Amino acid sequence: MYALITGSSKGIGKDMALELAKNGYDILLIARNEEELKSTQAEIVSKYKIKVHFLAIDLSTSDAPKAIYEWVSKNDYSISILINNAGYGLWGKFENLTFESQQNMMLLNMNSLVTLTYLFLPMLKNQPNTYILNVASTAAYQAVPALGVYAATKAFVLSFTRSLRFELKNTNVSVTCLSPGATTTNFTNRSGMKSSDAMQAVADKFSMPSDVVAKFGIDSMFSKKAEVVPGLTNKIGVWATYFLPKSIIESIAGNLYIKNLK
Ligand SMILES: NC(=O)c1ccc[n+]([C@@H]2O[C@H](COP(=O)([O-])OP(=O)(O)OC[C@H]3O[C@@H](n4cnc5c(N)ncnc54)[C@H](OP(=O)(O)O)[C@@H]3O)[C@@H](O)[C@H]2O)c1
Repeated sequence: MYALITGSSKGIGKDMALELAKNGYDILLIARNEEELKSTQAEIVSKYKIKVHFLAIDLSTSDAPKAIYEWVSKNDYSISILINNAGYGLWGKFENLTFESQQNMMLLNMNSLVTLTYLFLPMLKNQPNTYILNVASTAAYQAVPALGVYAATKAFVLSFTRSLRFELKNTNVSVTCLSPGATTTNFTNRSGMKSSDAMQAVADKFSMPSDVVAKFGIDSMFSKKAEVVPGLTNKIGVWATYFLPKSIIESIAGNLYIKNLK
């Protein structure tokens, strides 16, 4: 049985692949950078006696999910786990970031996730005990100035995942949403936050290790949890969004993310 994991050449997705390989699952890796995919494939195969294949593809293009589905069908890979993990953030004021970069992020974070889920659902429904794990973020729970579009894409992921879980509750497909907070990956680099010493210092202080987040996500998926947040600090942050007025939550985030913009 295969687990298909998007964004699995590095970061949380790669650690999820390692965790599932440890559990005996064959792995399908998806990301853009072919060299990194090859190196991740070699690392997993050297550690575990399972099959690992990869497809280098840009998931922010509209025909990518269909190309992945065709690749899987052509090779007869039987998928029992779909993990929609690929995603990134962009740090900056809405009007100052290019429209194209924000549109690409929306296509990756939302469109590819929904399309892959739609395409693979019939395959997942055809087998006993299958799983969908969608990766959102603690940013899904609140508006985040200077990460506005990113946070909105993750609110979309959380809302969509909960609806889908409800619709599939009497089926063999279990649906889970993982919402990490700061995690030690390439995220701060891709989002542009690494260019700020202050933002990187905050990330370093609060980040959880990627393998810990990945294992927590995989364990929660197998436990058929609906919605999970790793780490006590992240959980407290999410609880606060239920109890504090939105204006206060947004000021706290705004003070951190806007203040440090150059
Ligand atoms: N790290 C955090 O602090 C944090 C916090 C909350 C939520 N998250 C979420 O966790 C998920 C994983 O992020 P991460 O932290 O592990 O980031 P990461 O280290 O940057 O890894 C992202 C992965 O996605 C792939 N990817 C990026 N753009 C892609 C595209 N257009 N098409 C196909 N693959 C693409 C990357 O490979 P290529 O670049 O080669 O394509 C890489 O494998 C994301 O959804 C992110 O929003 C992360």
